[in-house]
Amino acid sequence: MFHQQHIKGISNLAFRTIRCLHVQGNISMPPCDFKPEPYDSISYDKVREIRQKHMVPGLLTYYKKPVMVHQGHKQWLFDYDGKRYLDMFAGIVTVGVGHCHPKVEEATFKQMRKLWHTTNIYLHPKTHEYAEKLASKMPGDLKVVMFFNSGSEANDMAMMLMRAYTGNWDIICHRNSYHGAGPHTLGILSHSNWKYNTPLGFGCHAMMNPDPYKGPWGSENCRDSPVKSGLPCDCSPGKCVAADAYAKQLQDVLDFSVPNKIAGFFAEPIQGVGGTVQYPKNYMKMAYEKIREHGGLCLSDEVQTGFGRLGSHYWGFESMGVMPDMVTCAKSIANGFPMAALITTPKIAETMKSAVTFNTFGGNPMACSAASAVLDIIDEEGLMHNSDVVGTFFLNQLDTLRKEFDIVGDVRGKGLMIGVEMVTDKASRKPLPPALMLDIWERTKDYGVLFGKGGRFGNVFRIKPPMCITKEDAIFATAVLRQSIKDHLQNI
Ligand SMILES: Cc1ncc(COP(=O)(O)O)c(C=O)c1O
Repeated sequence: MFHQQHIKGISNLAFRTIRCLHVQGNISMPPCDFKPEPYDSISYDKVREIRQKHMVPGLLTYYKKPVMVHQGHKQWLFDYDGKRYLDMFAGIVTVGVGHCHPKVEEATFKQMRKLWHTTNIYLHPKTHEYAEKLASKMPGDLKVVMFFNSGSEANDMAMMLMRAYTGNWDIICHRNSYHGAGPHTLGILSHSNWKYNTPLGFGCHAMMNPDPYKGPWGSENCRDSPVKSGLPCDCSPGKCVAADAYAKQLQDVLDFSVPNKIAGFFAEPIQGVGGTVQYPKNYMKMAYEKIREHGGLCLSDEVQTGFGRLGSHYWGFESMGVMPDMVTCAKSIANGFPMAALITTPKIAETMKSAVTFNTFGGNPMACSAASAVLDIIDEEGLMHNSDVVGTFFLNQLDTLRKEFDIVGDVRGKGLMIGVEMVTDKASRKPLPPALMLDIWERTKDYGVLFGKGGRFGNVFRIKPPMCITKEDAIFATAVLRQSIKDHLQNI
């Protein structure tokens, strides 16, 4: 049995050669034949020194002893020392088809040898082929595409477009939402810890988050997830008190906080940065109806939930039975190559005619080559199906931890968009204090698994790996989390 101390004690050389790290009895790190190249750049200490002296303070840094990554292969990351990690966060929900996927590499290199850069003032086949291909993945009238370099940029443009199209100003989002950190999107960023003390967000309104675990209403039957929160439900059949109550909260915002007509509504199908928060099943349908009654457009932010991650559907909004007027995507769209898109209807897009639009890098041939390969890979390798099968298996594995430990308050999600909420105890549902959360998290990293972290109080493990992970990976990651919680409980 390898305890954390044993793992820490393993020499760098041993880390390079050991294929299977063991935690808790016979659970081993699944094997991987890939060998990283030797690291030959500046030292770990030098990188930390530069970060401290020359990078902006406040830059989000994961772990007390941060990982310095060197190379990636599929679901695996290797640090400068050759230590292998199971990447359960896919960068940040970005490397959807796996690190350094050969088909993405090939498509990008092929384009690189011909032409790195041209902008959309010219015609280029890759940009146009990809626009058609992405539009073909969208239902209904969502057929016009605009390209950007980041999710923030796409959402910023969407906010502008909502306002220009409707002639209205006010935009509603949920508290606990994250849609980027651009000049417009900072207004709908609804987490105090990401906000600066500057005048932003004129006309932006954050309504109560329809969170059936932490909010005032909700039960184990509210969510579209294979696992349940364990909260009792006393709704009569066919009724969901929570969905109605949160929709009423939206109605109150519409009645009291905004003019009669609004520009629109932003929501992720499942909140990502907010800690994998799922809304009551019917809530989104009611929300879209109310927004439209007030003249607003509905946007589905698919930056984290898109491209098959939820397993049941290609886009998160499809799993909720709603049809948005706008969709934004980024992150995994090009498997880590900077790229984003806003997709809307021809009618809404017409508004863009009132001025000229241009983006130097948006939709460049290399980004579109990578993004086009990503669409092929998801279909060819059945990655959406894998998200469904492995995601459901993984959720059930993790749910055993909820039953085992009082501090594992909730396990939730769908497909490979998973959250594990850590609490002081199940009865109070209070967030596990940061120091305790960090202690468990650091241990998971030392055991070789990289989880993300989110939620306003940083107490939710976010599990959104490359969609190529296996059931063995899920077993290993669950065993590591179990062992890390046990080690933590023994040491506090
Ligand atoms: C849901 C969502 N929308 C938008 C963004 C912003 O994307 P970017 O960081 O590429 O600007 C993020 C980033 O985490 C996100 O999670």
